[in-house]
Amino acid sequence: MSKKKILARIISFILKKPSHWLFVNENREFTKSQYEKISGCLKLFQYGLPQAYIFGKTEFYSREFIVSEDVLIPRCDSELIVKETLHEVQKRKNKKQIKILELGTGSGALIITVAKECKNLGISCVFTATDISKDALAIAKKNVILHDVSVDLHIGDWWDALDVTRYPFDIVFSNPPYVGAAERRFLSKNTRFEPKLALYGQYQSKSGLASINEILSKIDGKICASSGLILIEHGFNQQREIKSLIKEKHLNFLEQYYDLSGIPRVVKIGV
Ligand SMILES: C[S@@+](CC[C@H](N)C(=O)[O-])C[C@H]1O[C@@H](n2cnc3c(N)ncnc32)[C@H](O)[C@@H]1O
Repeated sequence: MSKKKILARIISFILKKPSHWLFVNENREFTKSQYEKISGCLKLFQYGLPQAYIFGKTEFYSREFIVSEDVLIPRCDSELIVKETLHEVQKRKNKKQIKILELGTGSGALIITVAKECKNLGISCVFTATDISKDALAIAKKNVILHDVSVDLHIGDWWDALDVTRYPFDIVFSNPPYVGAAERRFLSKNTRFEPKLALYGQYQSKSGLASINEILSKIDGKICASSGLILIEHGFNQQREIKSLIKEKHLNFLEQYYDLSGIPRVVKIGV
């Protein structure tokens, strides 16, 4: 985005006016307080703070979501896992009620998108989402209210967030932390403002696979319904290690999904 556009976006954000309003009010003067707020935002922008954090919102799957520095900014890469989750939902559309779980929901953008799309498709589902971060769940709750959907939010360490009465789920999906020590250098500079817990997980590892390993170690037949499955988003170079993990945990590798550049980014695992 050009500097001029950024400035226009900041001004319309501070004045709470649509950007087209600025063009017909070009000569308008700012109050001291407005001027200070505008230059404050500009400084944050120059410092590298992502626009999503400056404006407190971002777009995912053509919907707006509230974000703060407590949550990862949802990436368009994650549209792949959302699409494949919806694909699985459609395969089960004749089921009376489909139970869907997201582990590590952050802003809630992914599960809320699935919920909104299921509503549009007229498919009845029950949605549950977890996170270990209380602050992230507070943002997810705001988004659940904003989008008027029903998602049960639970706090806790992966599966520990849920008691057995919630089981079994038909579809589980997760975009867990998966950045390994070696990959840090590939991250854009702006990621320094995002929660370390969301990028690297609790136990930062060289391979970045610690969270995926945790999730797959503790999954069992009781958590998933028969023909239940888990979809996991992962890093661009983790396909081989994940396949070995699946084998090691006696789970079933079902399918690999690729992004538009042909890079493997989501795996479907049978439980
Ligand atoms: C990569 S972010 C994904 C957030 C969101 N689903 C998205 O795609 O925008 C990973 C999320 O997992 C959460 N998380 C990290 N460790 C966790 C754990 N041990 N148990 C549950 N959630 C965890 C983080 O707080 C973060 O919100």
